[in-house]
Amino acid sequence: MEKIKIIMDVDTGSDDAIALVMAMLEEKFDCLGICAVNGNVEVKLTTDNSLRVVECCDKQGVVPVFKGCDLPIASTLMPWTAQSLRPFPTREGTREGKTVVHGDHLPLPEPTIKEEKDSAVVWLINTLLESDGDIILVPVGPLTNVAVAMRADPRIIPKIKRIVYMGGGDRVNNTSAASEFNVWADPEALEIVLQSGVDFTMVPLDATHEAYMNLADAAEIREIGTKPAKLVADLIESRIRGYSVNDKDSADNALAPIHDALAVCSIIHPECLVDVVDVICHCDISRGFAYGETIIDWRHRVKFDEPANIHFAKHADRNVFTAWVKEVLKKDKERRGL
Ligand code: BDR
Ligand code: CA
Repeated sequence: MEKIKIIMDVDTGSDDAIALVMAMLEEKFDCLGICAVNGNVEVKLTTDNSLRVVECCDKQGVVPVFKGCDLPIASTLMPWTAQSLRPFPTREGTREGKTVVHGDHLPLPEPTIKEEKDSAVVWLINTLLESDGDIILVPVGPLTNVAVAMRADPRIIPKIKRIVYMGGGDRVNNTSAASEFNVWADPEALEIVLQSGVDFTMVPLDATHEAYMNLADAAEIREIGTKPAKLVADLIESRIRGYSVNDKDSADNALAPIHDALAVCSIIHPECLVDVVDVICHCDISRGFAYGETIIDWRHRVKFDEPANIHFAKHADRNVFTAWVKEVLKKDKERRGL
């Protein structure tokens, strides 16, 4: 069976961690490497957390981790954006306070392995240039690494088979009234990638909030009994606690979205995304109230001047998603003869 080659680009992060577990344990994938980026926490921590997940899955020596960009491309250059509207992202050592959904460190032992010597951007460029055009990029954090790589060496653009991105939102946003976190953390990076012409699937909040997990899911996963299953169960439960602080649906029904893992699932089970439409999308980079908004052209026109540049998932099927997560973890247990 020919495996599907993927590269994960993450800001690990609790749901990133679940996405990484799935990317490394789904036997249909060949996960070539993990690029870490500034986002949920500083890049030093997203790198460290990614290394912890690699060891939790016993993939040390198999899946390398690369440290990437430590700040967004442009959004923190203006003092007013850095200080007022934009408490994140920050350079190492300057982050104030902690979020409840993503702590600094995952609940895993300190890693005994280290990231690779190359920066994520350099490795991405070299790996894509040497490839046969058969690698899928799966960025589930701010798009800084990918956009910088495209700008540094545009020859990689036609080498990317497709991008499956968790980010953006149409009806649902979470960081400003107009913007989803991954986009808001680096709007210019998204716009660079949207203009690149690469086949691009957007898995937005509209879909991920429908693919939630609840306490019963966590309990069933915990029963599997392996280290990765325990991690996934712990993270689902901590995300439910974190989301319940601000989100009425989470608080009332004890559930939370596992955004990033849905993007990974969609590569194996496209039917987990429902109502996927081809549309024109651009990201607002005008630094006003809508900074970081994913603006989708919903006008009903027979013909647009420019072609659609993304596949946008309006909804998701939570049953397909949750069944897949459990199946991958159970098969991993069987494979290891546990
Ligand atoms: C996205 O933002 C991050 O906090 C999550 O890891 C996810 O990638 C959801 O808006
Ligand atoms: Ca993420």
